Amino acid sequence: MKPGMGNRTVKTGSRNEQRSWPEGQAAGAARQMGMESQHSEAISIAEYLAQHESKGLLRFITCGSVDDGKSTLIGRLLYDSKLLLDDQLATLESDSRRHGTQNGEMDFALLVDGLAAEREQGITIDVAYRFFDTERRKFIVADCPGHEQYTRNMATGASTADLAIVLVDARKGLLIQTRRHSYIVSLLGIRHVILAVNKMDLVGYDQVTFERTAHEYRQLANQFGIENVHCIPLSALRGDNMMSASPQMSWYEGDSLLSLLETIDVSRPEISRPFRLPVQWVNRPDQNFRGFSGLVASGDIRVGDEVIVLPSGTRTRLAGVINPQGESDAASEGEAVTLTLADEVDVSRGDVIAAAAHPPEVADQFAAHVLWMADAPLLPGRGYWLKIGCQTVGAQITEIKHRVDINSQKFLAAKRVNLNEVAYCNLMLDHPIAFEAYADNRALGGFILIDRQSNATVGCGTIDFALRRATNIHWHQLEINRHARAATKGQTPSCLWFTGLSGSGKSTIANLVDRRLHAMGYHTYILDGDNVRHGLNKDLGFTDEDRVENIRRVAEVAKLMVDAGLIVLVSFISPFRDERRMARELFGENEFLEVYVDTPLALCEQRDPKGLYRRARAGEIPNFTGISSPYQPPEHADIHLPTVELTTEQSVERVTSRLLGQTTHV
Ligand code: ADX
Repeated sequence: MKPGMGNRTVKTGSRNEQRSWPEGQAAGAARQMGMESQHSEAISIAEYLAQHESKGLLRFITCGSVDDGKSTLIGRLLYDSKLLLDDQLATLESDSRRHGTQNGEMDFALLVDGLAAEREQGITIDVAYRFFDTERRKFIVADCPGHEQYTRNMATGASTADLAIVLVDARKGLLIQTRRHSYIVSLLGIRHVILAVNKMDLVGYDQVTFERTAHEYRQLANQFGIENVHCIPLSALRGDNMMSASPQMSWYEGDSLLSLLETIDVSRPEISRPFRLPVQWVNRPDQNFRGFSGLVASGDIRVGDEVIVLPSGTRTRLAGVINPQGESDAASEGEAVTLTLADEVDVSRGDVIAAAAHPPEVADQFAAHVLWMADAPLLPGRGYWLKIGCQTVGAQITEIKHRVDINSQKFLAAKRVNLNEVAYCNLMLDHPIAFEAYADNRALGGFILIDRQSNATVGCGTIDFALRRATNIHWHQLEINRHARAATKGQTPSCLWFTGLSGSGKSTIANLVDRRLHAMGYHTYILDGDNVRHGLNKDLGFTDEDRVENIRRVAEVAKLMVDAGLIVLVSFISPFRDERRMARELFGENEFLEVYVDTPLALCEQRDPKGLYRRARAGEIPNFTGISSPYQPPEHADIHLPTVELTTEQSVERVTSRLLGQTTHV
């Protein structure tokens, strides 16, 4: 800490009260106020806050690798705009002497590559957000690593950014990674790019080199539809064109990096966007007040204007607006507000309140880009949670149209999407939602996908447009329902779902149960993996994605059969918990019983009724369950059959009595 930066007294505006700030905070506050360390005059907090609040905020990301000098660039930005805490500076000076790659001179990259492990590896590994401000603007910079495997980090940083700085090394020009970064930048809707042509000192500050790279980049940006590109020749290490014009490059007439960041206009005044507020919270302190709180995603609204609540489509008028300052008669984009409505309408969290004259569309099927962020691949047909705006709904990718190679942007055929890959997909939701194309509205068009078991974020995506089909096809309520059908049979329809390894005895037990039920006069049907795979599912093999689809189809068929009044016995390995849960969710309470035929792998393999285990061990059958493909045992099966302890007859008895215990004769 420099002398003079210890406790600082600050006068509050109105009451002239002296307040002492703790050391670190004082330094931070002084810095934010743009005060040099030798200045010690007190400043009015009210004045400071007013000045500070009126400053605009620019969020940007930096894309490039350590080799391009990205960390040095950010470090230099922070250092030269005197935005570092003094103790951080002291550490930097000593670190530069110890670890630096600049012969004992300041190594700005050390500022950014904070973690010891990263220093050793010489790479930056996660998204780091840094906050700083100058007299003109506040900044949040997301520092994203450039390595291919970290695409997901870049997407995380890019999704909220207004601008991207894409770095290239002047000696190397555009590289594959420049293309990759720019593609993700365009995918995530960033409309402003600053191409920082770095290390100009190493090419003798050559104008021709710069112009060539800038020209090539403009062509690339054009391909991706990035509208606004600024190119700056600089040397982050030497400070050329960082804070002010470099005497070394008098041929360059544009802005320095910092002045461009301070002045660039990223607003979209050309587009007047209609009002949308995704409801984050229904505020109901007592019977007399009901307000709907959230962040205005776009547009303006005034008290008295007509609004529509979606997806329900109810119309009413805006009765009042409350913002942090109190009551108001209007709300506009970016404000956190509570709205009250003229009529008592039903509004829940996740609904969207919109301008009635220009409502967003409502749909449940979309074409969307998805960027996958999890180790386990995305499988079409598997259920995920999709979070969009303030709403979370069940979702499935129904089809992968193509995968996009992020380096070449070529379309490739794909049946799954792996970590860090991008694909163009059809998406289906459990319920219709109000949305907008991501290109028009990030808040209503950007989503994340969440794993239903672990609750981890596994992907992110952008809605392109709605596929109309679903909204045109309604579930047709049949006049004769399942209960009427079942009544004529004198049974309660249900689904017995047998799961277990190949050779565990599923089919044997299911067949015996079936025979017994049949003898008692029940109307049943067996869906068996081996049989269904000869007909309905004969196009499917045993990859993970095919198994997901196999189970999805058979679960839907079983559902129709239960609807028809039958007792259905499904006997499939069904190795994944996700799909068994999906099957369960298709049925009503007590209609679905999961039966776990629990036979140890060793025993199944010893029996090997079809000789398949032997062939799988010999490497002749790929993806064989239990050998080269996983089986996830049920955690809460309704009926557990540990077959080593039970005779077949006992297993059959256990299933039948449980089923009939629930079955009421009509
Ligand atoms: S599931 O995993 O998709 O549910 P399903 O029950 O339809 O499998 O089919 C399993 C049957 O297919 C097995 O009983 C076995 O006879 C046969 N089979 C052929 N190849 C495989 C394999 N790679 N893994 C498991 N079963 C296989």
